[in-house]
Amino acid sequence: MCGIIGYTGPLEAQKILLEGLAGLEYRGYDSAGIALCMEDSHIYLAKKAGKVKNLKEYCEQQVTISSHSGIGHTRWATHGGVSDMNAHPHRAGKVTLIHNGIIENYHALTEQFHVQDKLVSQTDSEVAAHILDQLYENDPLVAIRKLASLLEGSYGFCIMFEDQPGAIYAIRNVSPLVAAATHSGSLIASDLTALIPYTREYFVVPEQRIVKLTPYKVHVYNLDDTFSKNYPEIMTVNWNMDAAMKNGFPHFMLKEIHEQPEAMQNTILPRVNKGVPDFSDDGIPDEIFENCNQVQIIACGTAMHAGMVARAILQPVLRIPISVSVASEFRYEEPLIDKNTLAIIISQSGETIDTLAALRLAHQCGSTTLAVVNVKGSTIARESDYVFYTHAGPEIAVASTKAYSVQLAALYMIGCRMALVRGKYTKQDACGFLAQLLDAIPAMETIIGRKEQIKKAAAHIIQSPDAFFIGRGLDYAFSLEGALKLKEISYIHSEAYAAGELKHGTIALISDHVPVIAIATQQHVYAKTISNIREVKARGAFIILLVKENAVVDSELADIQLRIPNVGDPFTVFPIAVALQLIAYYASLAKNLNVDQPRNLAKSVTVE
Ligand code: G6P
Repeated sequence: MCGIIGYTGPLEAQKILLEGLAGLEYRGYDSAGIALCMEDSHIYLAKKAGKVKNLKEYCEQQVTISSHSGIGHTRWATHGGVSDMNAHPHRAGKVTLIHNGIIENYHALTEQFHVQDKLVSQTDSEVAAHILDQLYENDPLVAIRKLASLLEGSYGFCIMFEDQPGAIYAIRNVSPLVAAATHSGSLIASDLTALIPYTREYFVVPEQRIVKLTPYKVHVYNLDDTFSKNYPEIMTVNWNMDAAMKNGFPHFMLKEIHEQPEAMQNTILPRVNKGVPDFSDDGIPDEIFENCNQVQIIACGTAMHAGMVARAILQPVLRIPISVSVASEFRYEEPLIDKNTLAIIISQSGETIDTLAALRLAHQCGSTTLAVVNVKGSTIARESDYVFYTHAGPEIAVASTKAYSVQLAALYMIGCRMALVRGKYTKQDACGFLAQLLDAIPAMETIIGRKEQIKKAAAHIIQSPDAFFIGRGLDYAFSLEGALKLKEISYIHSEAYAAGELKHGTIALISDHVPVIAIATQQHVYAKTISNIREVKARGAFIILLVKENAVVDSELADIQLRIPNVGDPFTVFPIAVALQLIAYYASLAKNLNVDQPRNLAKSVTVE
């Protein structure tokens, strides 16, 4: 949450910061601000509530400012409402800083350092600025070290000192920061999208270190007063700027929906050897699949829904307990996991703080951890015992689409390998499973090709304040994600229910024209799901039914039928996911909402 960028070098800093913030806006978009170091060392500040566009327009109306170093921030409010004053950067004496994260002990520190009367905002970040200013004599490193020793919580800071022109200091705990020294100057940012226009090589700022950016070099210092001997590993970005642009699509979400077949191939194909999944290149040994007696899946949001699907598919095959936990709950439920547990941690960003905390707990319990992560070098990837990288490329729209599909692909492959290793699948079974997984890719393309039909279906939902998604078994697991997609970008209250559970309460909410999106793709529960659909139809619901091409359905059962290709039952999630994503997309579009940046949300949730 919150986008951070810092630049020092030969180019005009303001342009770089504003462009960088536009690219980082999906991390938080309620306000934005920049601070620029002027030629006379004075620090110029501009901050505005609202989108980066507002800030840009405001800056364009000001006198032209030439500066070669500065910091910029897009905010997702935690402490204090959305206002110009609460926007970052925050200034206190010689210190100007931006912050991502939460200072948990800011209240106690406010009293300890008597800064109450100096505060002009309601943010925890401004408290840190005032304390740093008090601690600062003439050595930034000393002051930052002292500040770090006082803070509790998560943070990524970029800091400028008025008497240190051209230098930017940074420190982080949990909250992500990446940095690069390039021929065009030195950059630091909360994520790669801001660095890609200037370089393909970067490093992840290590925790418990201070970095100092000068125009062509990034220095790394330890917290104990020594120069860091081990420079962080330089990593190379494996996607180009095009991947982070809309490329002719009206929204990132639609572009990312379209990218799914390719992302699936990129994730699956490099791991196929003689027709079966093979993770030797990932360094994932078969022993972790052999030596466990249960699997614990942990994730948040869409990633958790991918875990729900995986459990429904894999538990009947593997015949060991597979639990799925919401990361924010997992930490507090005294989980029954131990050294015989394989903990699978799923996260697109690899930075979600609840998921990270759950990963650390799994380690404390002695479990082996395997992360399914999209962002290379992210904290969860680095802290897990093993990593399965999905290859979705950057996902910019807040509503996750392609990351979900490739998380599923990863989990299906992991399950298949596990079944093979544990003797639940023969080689032939595994080959067959993988072939069916690959068959799901053209099925996704088919659904993308039917988007006009889906758009018409979505138009029937938008008049209603509520919508329900129903299904049984796997279809229920898909419904959860369908309901989340719809609610997060169309603001229609949508809930997913196991179809058989409706009659235990929720059916009271069904009345004339209430949209019910019913999914019936699983043969063994098909007849029962159809009966449940009849129950809501009889109470006036408007039924949008998703079934396979070959299903025989009474014409009066549904108001709209959306057919998906005849892939094997365990693989229907792939075309269904695309259909549900498109329903949500077109509902949001028809309501004229901000598809890519829905209200109150942020892409990367780095606060608990
Ligand atoms: C946020 C995003 C969701 C995402 C969830 C988990 O809520 O809006 O799209 O599914 O975080 O994120 P992660 O990066 O851990 O997959």
